[in-house]
Amino acid sequence: MRTVALYGTIAGCITTALVLFTTQGGPAFASHTFHRLQHPHTPPRPGRAGPPIPHSQSHLGPPKQAWKYEYRRDRRDYGLSEEQCSVAFPELFEEVDRAVAYRQKRGNIALEELDVGWRGDGIVRALIHDNQLYIVDAHGVSDANHRPRSIATLHALNRAISSTSEFLPNIEFTFTDHDSALREGDGNHTTWGYSRHTSQESVWLMPDFGFWGWPDVGLRSYAELQSFLDADEDDFLDKVPKLVWRGSLNVGSGLDAREGLLKHSADQPWSNVQTLDWSNQTDIDENLLSMQEHCDYMFTAQTEGNTYSGRLKYLLNCHSVLLSHSMQFVEHFHHLLQSSGPEQNYVKLKRDFSDLPRTIESLGKTANLPDTRRIADNALHTFRERYLTPAAEACYWRALIRGWASVQGFKPEIWEGSGEMAADWRGERKGRRKMRGAPFESYVVMEAVEWDVPSKPRKVCVDER
Ligand SMILES: *[C@@H]1O[C@H](CO)[C@@H](O)[C@H](O)[C@H]1NC(C)=O
Ligand SMILES: *[C@@H]1O[C@H](CO)[C@@H](O)[C@H](O)[C@H]1NC(C)=O
Repeated sequence: MRTVALYGTIAGCITTALVLFTTQGGPAFASHTFHRLQHPHTPPRPGRAGPPIPHSQSHLGPPKQAWKYEYRRDRRDYGLSEEQCSVAFPELFEEVDRAVAYRQKRGNIALEELDVGWRGDGIVRALIHDNQLYIVDAHGVSDANHRPRSIATLHALNRAISSTSEFLPNIEFTFTDHDSALREGDGNHTTWGYSRHTSQESVWLMPDFGFWGWPDVGLRSYAELQSFLDADEDDFLDKVPKLVWRGSLNVGSGLDAREGLLKHSADQPWSNVQTLDWSNQTDIDENLLSMQEHCDYMFTAQTEGNTYSGRLKYLLNCHSVLLSHSMQFVEHFHHLLQSSGPEQNYVKLKRDFSDLPRTIESLGKTANLPDTRRIADNALHTFRERYLTPAAEACYWRALIRGWASVQGFKPEIWEGSGEMAADWRGERKGRRKMRGAPFESYVVMEAVEWDVPSKPRKVCVDER
């Protein structure tokens, strides 16, 4: 016997909002999910599946089945082949295709477009050569805001490069770690960014730094969050029957949406919506919720912030129903959000959240709970278990590299000039060439593209004895 009191804690005072849901065992529509939740530790199959076996080899044994993606086995496989990526994540690459189509219309990318001067700071110029990542120009990325983002992004990109056994094309490109790749007035510069306004067609979307980790807000690693949820998340019907949101009002273009959410959830029995003041430690200590704690709720709210909101990918990992206003800024996976139909995986609200009270009350009605739960189930299967897995992230990076290469109107130059000329042992003059920039391996240690050898230690560890 399962009983869920919706809005239970204050149900006594708001009888119209009190809904009881009673059922014997689990409803049939969710039996798959129940099974998964009750057996979360099904051991993964040993070994990695290789690419599909060509038919010509089928005489070697019984016919092999074409490769299929399996969440538990493959979700952390950073090295799926290009073919496996397209089998596992057929709808993942829409943003890459869009950006490629845009350049096919506008003409190939020119080397001059890789100049970083237009952005001021928070922009990195890099190249990939022979499956090695080089940082050519790290432009204003050492302060407390840019440093964790640029480093996380470089690591995530390098992880996708170093975990494949396939050859990647040589490319040169820039990325910015700003909330918005382009500011107003930046025109149509070409760079990789975490988000773009829907009107900014020249921006190539890359996975946001939070797919590596966002330790600054307590999110130590993206994969770890998925482990926590797989192990400990409550069944949907056992979750707190309320809407949860935490956030700051000290934001840019998303302020109107955040204010709307606060206004239309104020004093509602179903609301656990609160602002956070990041400059007030007491407030943070008392009110900050971890991502897992957000997932304890049946309903989560999403609002844009300065531009996009970095937490969306985390909220979509919850087996909960996400409510969001329609968004002006998109990340590389937003096209997978569905607000209607049998595949619905979130609930779309007006930007000012004026339809929030009516919607929440409808979602929580006993008669509607199977449909409400189906939205959460769809989100779980589409996002946590497929398109927002680490494996998908790595596939997306490599598709981005290949897509960029397909419209790159120049050949990346790895060598820096002709090198220093010196006489060799026969007395003949010979150039010893240098590569441009710094390899990833040294950049992430030195956090610089050039340094003296021996370098001055940034922090001297002296044994005082
Ligand atoms: C950028 O805009 C200019 C003028 O508006 C146009 O001529 C140019 O082709 C655009 N470039 C790209 C790459 O879209
Ligand atoms: C800091 O936050 C606490 C808890 O939310 C609150 O009681 C207090 O008034 C806040 N202090 C300031 C200076 O805003």
